Amino acid sequence: MSAQTLKLALVGYGRMGQMLDRLAPEHGLEVVLRLDQHNNAGGAGLTPENFRGVDVAIDFSVPETVADNAVGLAGLGVATVVGATGWLDRLEEVQAAVEQAGTGFVYGANFSIGVNAFYRVVAEAAKLLAQAEDYDCWAWEAHHKRKLDAPSGTMLRLLGVMRESGYDRPIDVATNRVGWVPGTHEIGFDSEADSIELRHVARSREGFARGALRAARWIHGRPGFFEFSKIWDQTL
Ligand SMILES: NC(=O)c1ccc[n+]([C@@H]2O[C@H](COP(=O)([O-])OP(=O)(O)OC[C@H]3O[C@@H](n4cnc5c(N)ncnc54)[C@H](OP(=O)(O)O)[C@@H]3O)[C@@H](O)[C@H]2O)c1
Repeated sequence: MSAQTLKLALVGYGRMGQMLDRLAPEHGLEVVLRLDQHNNAGGAGLTPENFRGVDVAIDFSVPETVADNAVGLAGLGVATVVGATGWLDRLEEVQAAVEQAGTGFVYGANFSIGVNAFYRVVAEAAKLLAQAEDYDCWAWEAHHKRKLDAPSGTMLRLLGVMRESGYDRPIDVATNRVGWVPGTHEIGFDSEADSIELRHVARSREGFARGALRAARWIHGRPGFFEFSKIWDQTL
């Protein structure tokens, strides 16, 4: 870790935002601004005054506000990490704003190292079974009852990874929203002869927070538009 302490703005101050606040000093980041619905309704907190001296922002807000926040932060010239999910319908617009501004941007549905390794395991399984017509595929995820989007962004990424690996047969997808589950994802292949089950289980939200904090340090001073699953190993 570089010795320089970076100034961090937290956009979204719910469960993830508060955990980022607690862990930031361990990653050489000093939180200097905290925005939530009260001081950032309609993007009201995205001002040059608020962001003077801010090196990087991390957004774990709500799906409806992420894209507007991201465009606003690019306009302010602030490097940004987005962990919030459910906004990818506006990905192209955000990318255009970031590229026009020449800022740095990392987004990802899941910042845990384990899930990013899991994407690669699933990609390999999908590639191996892409032509094996005897095998059907299913996918399942469970999260706590407060999670707003379903299927999860992580599940959408897993399905994307499988398609990119050449698996183009149907995948039966199911989701649960219940209790306090931090996040469980399974991919299964089932034939008459046997089955394969691949499972990732998050134990807590801390892995997500630490991944986002590492990404914040990595993106500082590095213009470009990056998806976390492509660069996570560079942040370690
Ligand atoms: N990528 C990953 O690894 C990962 C991991 C976990 C969660 N997530 C995602 O991260 C997001 C946040 O999760 P969470 O559990 O922390 O949710 P949460 O507890 O509901 O927190 C959401 C926060 O967003 C704030 N907010 C609402 N409107 C805002 C605005 N205009 N500007 C700034 N903040 C605003 C809320 O403010 P108020 O409190 O004032 O309403 C609240 O503080 C979700 O999309 C979730 O799926 C991603």
